[in-house]
Parts: sequence; structure tokens; C-alpha cells
Amino acid sequence: MKTVGIFYGSTSGTTKAAAEKIAKAFGKDAEVHNIKEATPSMIAKYTNLVFGTSAWGIGDMQDDWEDFIDDLSEVDFIGKKIALFGLGDQEEYPESFVDGLGTMYCRLPEKGGVVGFWPTEGYKFYFSLAEKDGKFVGLPLDDHQQPEKTDARVKAWVDQLRTEFL
Ligand SMILES: Cc1cc2nc3c(=O)[nH]c(=O)nc-3n(C[C@H](O)[C@H](O)[C@H](O)COP(=O)(O)O)c2cc1C
Repeated sequence: MKTVGIFYGSTSGTTKAAAEKIAKAFGKDAEVHNIKEATPSMIAKYTNLVFGTSAWGIGDMQDDWEDFIDDLSEVDFIGKKIALFGLGDQEEYPESFVDGLGTMYCRLPEKGGVVGFWPTEGYKFYFSLAEKDGKFVGLPLDDHQQPEKTDARVKAWVDQLRTEFL
């Protein structure tokens, strides 16, 4: 598998911590970057990409991703695989759970290479912009209500990505 570039946006640190766990699960095959310090050319150099955001406001991604996402149009995504993860809180925001993840998927300039879809079982919520055709468009993590599930979810998702990435 080719090196994985992980790009996260994080306000209070939970998405950053999740990005580091995902990198650790990939081992030496992954490099982690804060999207706040990233450029389109940094993203362009990876074949396998992981993007992570938390959820804020009304369907908003984390602020640094809100600032950056339009610059993704400068990246040629043909021949790349992209997997998404999102942090949220299903008890405080059950009607907009991990909406940032759904918005990120929606705003990707090219969706053909998206992998890492994830079942909705095991989460309790009423509505999520990240749910599409009965699955999440990436991995939701809830370090507020289900912190004990994060490690196992990350491991299983990374195992799945190893089969889906190039
Ligand atoms: C003002 C505010 C709005 C939020 N809105 C949502 C939301 O709509 N959906 C959700 O799942 N989580 C929501 N959250 C929870 C955050 O996404 C969660 O705390 C996340 O772990 C923050 O990650 P970060 O510190 O890495 O940015 C919200 C939190 C705050 C403080």
C-alpha cells in the first residue's frame, strides 16, 4: 500500500487525537497533517488520503476545513482514494450527528475515489447529513458519548482501508 496522507481539522483536540490514532493503526505507512498548515500540493502528493473534521454550527465542518475545502478543486483526484472520518456528539446533537462529515463528502470536488463507508449500527441519532443509502460516508467517532468504542472502530476501519486503498 502507498503512503497515506491524513489531514485533520480540530478545534479542541479530539479530531487531532483521532487522526493520530488512525496514523498509529496504519503504522509507518501514514503521515499526519493539520489542514490549517496544508496546501493543495501537499495533498496532491498522496495517492491514499484520509480527511477528518468535527461538526459545528448548522452542517459546518471544523473552521480550518471550512477555510480550505474550496482549494481542493486545485487537486487532481483521478487515481486517488479518499476516506473520511468525523467527530461529533450523538447525545447533544442527535439531529445533526457528525454533519461536518456529511458536508465534507458533499463538498468534495471528486467523489469517485471515496472509500471507507461505515455501517450506522452502534450509534444512536435521529438524523445525520453523513448518512447516505443506509451507510455513513466515512467513520463517525464520538469521543464524548462513546470514547470506549473509538480504538476498536479505528482498528476495524483501518483494516478495511488497507483492502480499499491502493
Ligand atoms: C457549538 C458546538 C456545535 C456542535 N455541533 C455539533 C453537531 O451539529 N453535530 C455533532 O455531531 N457534534 C457537534 N458538536 C460536537 C463537536 O463536533 C465535538 O465536540 C468534537 O469532538 C469537536 O472536535 P474538535 O475539538 O477536534 O474540533 C458541536 C460542539 C459545539 C461546541
